[in-house]
Amino acid sequence: MIIRQIYEIVRERLNLFPAVALLGPRQVGKTTLAEIVAKEYSSVYLDLEKFEDVEKMSDPGYFLNIHRHKLVILDEIQCIPNLFPLLRGIIDKGRKQGLRNSRFLLLGSASGELLRQSGETLAGRIAYVEMSPLHLLEVGGQSVETLWIRGGFPDSFLAKSERKSIIWRDNFILTYLERDLPRLGARVPVATLPIFNIFAVSDLGQNPIWSISGP
Ligand SMILES: Nc1ncnc2c1ncn2[C@@H]1O[C@H](COP(=O)(O)OP(=O)(O)O)[C@@H](O)[C@H]1O
Ligand SMILES: [Mg+2]
Repeated sequence: MIIRQIYEIVRERLNLFPAVALLGPRQVGKTTLAEIVAKEYSSVYLDLEKFEDVEKMSDPGYFLNIHRHKLVILDEIQCIPNLFPLLRGIIDKGRKQGLRNSRFLLLGSASGELLRQSGETLAGRIAYVEMSPLHLLEVGGQSVETLWIRGGFPDSFLAKSERKSIIWRDNFILTYLERDLPRLGARVPVATLPIFNIFAVSDLGQNPIWSISGP
């Protein structure tokens, strides 16, 4: 496990704000970091992509009473953007009772819409921390070449072989173009996608990827 430098920043922000949003692309390591944070606090973890976890939250007393003194970690927050007013109510009520920090750790992608909604509703109550892929200080100078070639997404960087790393990146880029970019609000015409795909269709290193031109 590579120790992420951002961990200390997340802890510091949690000690200062009732809510902290840890934002970053899929597969960058948000959930893994949250699991480490969860061990340090008395906490409860909910994955909002899971129906049973969303259902738990429909009970209004869930946060107010049961988990009043716990750090509540909400993963994939972009699945339920209209959650922010509820969080605001809980945070404000808690403030009156002296609960001023470490109440919510929100994980999700940094889409413009999510930032707008959370920023408007939770102004003054939320700190944002952006998580990037692994960087040189985290992997060490001896790995500079690997980092340069494979990039800093942990599963690509740590892949057992060059081929596995390439396959991981090909899949990641395709999913990013087809699913994540549209969700982030980017309107990429279907006809434009092949231009980006020059990075994805790498032919597993057999041909130089930049020899393929766009449409
Ligand atoms: N610090 C780390 N060291 C080693 N592997 C990591 C680290 N952080 C994440 N990973 C690996 O990267 C992959 C994606 O991590 P995950 O936390 O699920 O990302 P996210 O929640 O941002 O989508 C997982 O296979 C995980 O084991
Ligand atoms: Mg995750």
